[in-house]
Amino acid sequence: MNTISTYIETHKNRFIAELINLLKIPSISADSAYQKDILATADFVLESLKKAGCDHVELCETPGNPIVYGEKIIDKNLPTVLVYGHYDVQPADPIDLWDSPPFEPVIKTTAIHPEGAIFARGACDDKGQMYMHIKAFEYLIAEGKLPCNVKFMIEGEEEVGSKNLSWFVPRNREKLANDVILISDTGMIANDIPSITTGLRGLSYVEVEVTGPNRDLHSGLYGGAVANPINILTKMIASLHDEHNRITIPGFYDDVEELSVTERAAMAKAPFSLENYKKALDIEAVYGEEGYTTNERNSIRPTLDVNGIWGGYTGEGAKTVIASKAFAKISMRLVPNQDWEKITELFKNHFESIAPASVKVVVKPHHGGQGYVTPIDTIEYKAASKAYEASFGKKPIPQRSGGSIPIVALFEQELKSKTILMGFGLDSDAIHSPNEHFGIWNYLKGIETIPYFYKYFTELSQK
Ligand code: BES
Ligand code: MN
Ligand code: MN
Repeated sequence: MNTISTYIETHKNRFIAELINLLKIPSISADSAYQKDILATADFVLESLKKAGCDHVELCETPGNPIVYGEKIIDKNLPTVLVYGHYDVQPADPIDLWDSPPFEPVIKTTAIHPEGAIFARGACDDKGQMYMHIKAFEYLIAEGKLPCNVKFMIEGEEEVGSKNLSWFVPRNREKLANDVILISDTGMIANDIPSITTGLRGLSYVEVEVTGPNRDLHSGLYGGAVANPINILTKMIASLHDEHNRITIPGFYDDVEELSVTERAAMAKAPFSLENYKKALDIEAVYGEEGYTTNERNSIRPTLDVNGIWGGYTGEGAKTVIASKAFAKISMRLVPNQDWEKITELFKNHFESIAPASVKVVVKPHHGGQGYVTPIDTIEYKAASKAYEASFGKKPIPQRSGGSIPIVALFEQELKSKTILMGFGLDSDAIHSPNEHFGIWNYLKGIETIPYFYKYFTELSQK
């Protein structure tokens, strides 16, 4: 009988080779030109689940990209773990900033990853982390050690807001029924400082369009006499924060839960170096809401950020023009008690109300989702904590993250179960950026930790 460590040692080259093949398929969900790659990736995942030992696999159609489902039910009286992940990836642009092509994975060492990291779009978010679960499952089946039932639900629209999951999940409550949901799609503090994500922010994503005159105008003949939509849009955006870097939308903070002094003090104990943070980003100073630390600003506080802004002439040389329209994409990160639909409504009303009469404003909501925070005095968390202790040799630190995985709140609402966020990526892995990568050590450590979670969760559930 092999332990997980010896099984990994024997099979690690194949584990890496398989992940590399998965990373070669450009499953970009934001761009319909990649539709056939989306389907090829779904097939790849389906085949992997079948080979690893699921006794039922299925491609579930949705109004959008298919969801890959697989299960191994060994005994109805045992607990069931539902593994969620996503096989879609972010677009690769700006392509010029990649040191190697995003869909031709290469292994290189870095200062943080001396044992090598796989460079490719999706390496960490989320193909690499999702595939760890399939390999951990392969081990449990191969060695006859699966202690409970397992279900896999791997979707293909996470990076575009998982909008079809609110269609799929309520229609498949029975199929997805479980005792705990396990997700590896977040990060940890450092390879020698393991942490478990206990919170995620919600999100409201909107697009705004400001229209001035009905056509582009000569900026000499008309300049000064009509509203320039780009000038107006930037002024409106600038007014969304005050001098304390607080968001000015009326009612925006109404439902924000203030953390207690004790909770903030506990947060402040997590290892963090502001100097290293600034150095890694090459910035002289940090920036953000007055009265909060960097780690608070990016996890327990809501934000508003412009993600893109365009309009007018941006080609070579100069063109003297007043554009008819200006646009921006804006995201608001929300904290658990804020309702994303209410915030979207508040934004829309406020943004329309601050527009001068000389322009027309359209606010188009894109997608959103609720935040999440999970207690740590549960069987679910204790099992995860023990699993990290077994593989890392130390207790993980609970930590709230600033990112969003909207499905987590939806799962809790529809399936009534808690989610454990066991992420093995690092902030420096450049997810959504050029040169995304995932440490080989992290990949194998994930595979090592997951089976312990199954074991401890099953044991603690039966006490
Ligand atoms: N895996 C990320 C979310 C994440 C990363 C959470 C690291 C915590 C730590 C996920 O794929 C993602 O990118 N989510 C989007 C939201 C989604 C609705 C498009 C995000 O956070 O921007
Ligand atoms: Mn992800
Ligand atoms: Mn992502």
